[in-house]
Parts: sequence; C-alpha cells; structure tokens
Amino acid sequence: MPPNETPTPVFADLPSLLARLEVMGATISTEDPGLTELDHGLQCAFELSQAAPADVELQVAGLAHDIAHGLGHIRDHGEVGGAAVRGLLGERVAELVMLHIPAKRYLVTTDPAYRARLSLDSVQTLALQGGDMTDAEVTAFEGFSHWRDALLLRVADEAAKVPGRSVPGLGHWRQALAATARA
Ligand SMILES: [Fe+2]
Repeated sequence: MPPNETPTPVFADLPSLLARLEVMGATISTEDPGLTELDHGLQCAFELSQAAPADVELQVAGLAHDIAHGLGHIRDHGEVGGAAVRGLLGERVAELVMLHIPAKRYLVTTDPAYRARLSLDSVQTLALQGGDMTDAEVTAFEGFSHWRDALLLRVADEAAKVPGRSVPGLGHWRQALAATARA
C-alpha cells in the first residue's frame, strides 16, 4: 500500500455505512466547492431514480459510488469502494461502484459526444485513471454482468454536480439501503 493511502474500509453494517455518508455531508466535493460529497451522491441517486425508477440497487449504487473518495483512494476509489460495500450491499452494487471509473474510460473511448460533456475535474482525473481504453479493455468491460447499468450510473454521476440543487436527502434512502442490505 502506498504510504499516503489509508487502509481499505469495509462497511460491515448499515450504521457504519450511514455514518460514512454523513461524514461525506460535511466534506466539500472535489467536483465543485458548492457541493458536499454527499450532495453529489444524493444527486446521482436521484438521477438514477428518474432514469431507472424500478432499479433500487442501481440507485443505491449511485448514492454510494464515491464512498471511498477522500480516503486517500483517487485512482482506484471505484475498486476500493466496491470492495468496501460488497459484503453489505451485495455483488451487483459492488460491481456497479467498481465499474464507475472504467465506465468513464469506456464512454470516452466509444462516444466522442460524452468526452465533450466531461467536467474539468473529470478530464483531469481521466489521465490518472488510465485514459482511453484499448480494444481489449473495451471487450473486457463488456464482459461484466452489469456494464450497461454502470454506463447509466456514469451518466448520472456526470449530471450530479449542480450546486444548490434540491433533491431528496439521506433519510429518503434509508429504506432503500436497508432493503438492499437485506437482499
Ligand atoms: Fe462521482
């Protein structure tokens, strides 16, 4: 482990996950100083509730997708976050969280219009995250079970950076988190 990275977190139960999300509510987002990390997750979950109303797991994945942000894991915060929620929220949510960074690389590689829409922060982190995908990486990405849903999450992620936007708060998601944790 590089010296500046903290140990990988694991959220063993719902209270520990909720406590982390509440801490994110007091952490300014790297995306925009007008947002907290939690605001960003809440906006992402809301976007997914509009795009895929029946898919609560996808919405929960949107809420939790940056759970490892700010823990010293920038390049691999998707993988770290996926591992952190796998035991509690299940394999699908873990895969969706893990894929949200390769999903950006996939969309940048396959959709020129998407690249043009990326925020400045996303462009700057893209190079750190590996830049464009090779043909083999594109094929490997399409081999994941939930890769198409990961693209939906990624598009919602990009749309979830609006300072001052009013969306349902963390309390709204407690039932969905509990249902996903029990599933
Ligand atoms: Fe994000």
